[in-house]
Amino acid sequence: MKILAIETSCDDTGVAVIEIKGQKQPYFNILSNVVSSQVEIHKKWGGVFPSLAKREHQKNLAPTLKEALKKAGLLFSSSSILSSDGHRRGGGMGATSPTKLKILNEILAREKNLYDDIIKFLEKYDKPKVDLIAVTVGPGLEPCLWQGVNFAKALSFYWGLPIIPVNHIEAHILANWLCAYQIGTRLAPIRRAHKLFPAVALVVSGGHTQIILMKNFGKYEILGETRDDAAGECFDKTAKILGIGYPGGPAIAEIALQWKSQAPITNNQTNPNFQTLISKFGVKLPRPMLNTKDYDFSFSGLKTAVLCNFKSQPDYVKKDKNYLIEMSREIQQAIIDVLIKKTIKAAKDYNIKTIILGGGVSANEELRKQFLQKIQKENLNHELYATNYPPYQSSPHSSKASLRRKGREGNELNLLAPLKNLCADNGAMIGVAGYFSWLKKKIKPWQKIKADANLRIG
Ligand code: KG4
Ligand code: ZN
Repeated sequence: MKILAIETSCDDTGVAVIEIKGQKQPYFNILSNVVSSQVEIHKKWGGVFPSLAKREHQKNLAPTLKEALKKAGLLFSSSSILSSDGHRRGGGMGATSPTKLKILNEILAREKNLYDDIIKFLEKYDKPKVDLIAVTVGPGLEPCLWQGVNFAKALSFYWGLPIIPVNHIEAHILANWLCAYQIGTRLAPIRRAHKLFPAVALVVSGGHTQIILMKNFGKYEILGETRDDAAGECFDKTAKILGIGYPGGPAIAEIALQWKSQAPITNNQTNPNFQTLISKFGVKLPRPMLNTKDYDFSFSGLKTAVLCNFKSQPDYVKKDKNYLIEMSREIQQAIIDVLIKKTIKAAKDYNIKTIILGGGVSANEELRKQFLQKIQKENLNHELYATNYPPYQSSPHSSKASLRRKGREGNELNLLAPLKNLCADNGAMIGVAGYFSWLKKKIKPWQKIKADANLRIG
């Protein structure tokens, strides 16, 4: 089956077509995954400006749909396809009844630009050969969500295709099932689903930071979450304070990379064999809620600490490359320390078999690396190896064969993280989540699909 998936929860307009093959052991093939990014627009604000984001989604949805269908080989001009009796075939608008137009108008009553674009699109192109439309309904920025939702509803109505609502957080988790296909271990996680659960998912993005217990597909329980800013938001806001670019996560990560080579190295006097990295500016930031007994987070204090430190520095320090390197490294490490500590705590407390990472921040190389190191160090009474992304296989022997052997013993702890290009918002992950919801018969009539900015998982 083929799913057309639409994502507009924040500042990325994503449209994808995924194909699912095999019923008992399905795997996902990405036919197209087009993301129209708004980074350049939001750069000057240092964060997403919802009304601007909404306007951009309106502009981008129809062109992104067109590109996604074209890349998937599913875009056909209605005028170019004639049936044997010389009449136009398919769903071109030529044959659209006034009633249909009226309903489209009602669905897109508040999205005038989108209405014009969609009419042009439907006039020009045939109904694509897809079986289902999946759309993000929440959580996210409400004005943005509605663009994708109304767009998807209009297509569902016009083309007579079923539509399925998708939870954005669940989609970040299930993005892992896409990358499993792409790197060639494609069926492992799904075949071995009973070996994967219970799992703990850490979803870290610009809007969310949650630790979620995943008992199975569709069975979730939020164990903890941020009480204020999300981890990605903290990266974005602190990068804005330092004036080093947007989005903040990749900007900070890139500068932090230089930390080791820049910081002076001296011998520790008490133990000459032990080398200590001495900080030039003595930047030390708090790790908020690191030792609390819950699974919650708080990042706004970290942001304030960065602001205070920055403000207290003379101008020449603020511009000093080494200061920015130290700051970036310390911001990244403070965030990583709390994310890892709380997730490992949940993993131990719930005796889980898999840690699943997801969301834009999970693209952070240092976070992935340190997660694996920590799990190895703790051992957690599991024979550990990581699947899904070759650089992190903890043992040179973790080939497919050893993966199967260990799987049978059932004592492994898996660490899953999506391919880097699938960590941030995209349509393909919405398609996978749509598929699992479709299996659970969560289809609704298009009239009942609504955006819900505060939608919870579980
Ligand atoms: O999942 P996402 O694309 O959108 C939301 O659902 O919010 O996540 C965007 C967030 C931004 O805050 C961005 O700074 C962060 O992900 N991010 C990173 C990295 N790449 C993106 N944070 C840390 N390290 C990265 N490499
Ligand atoms: Zn997201």
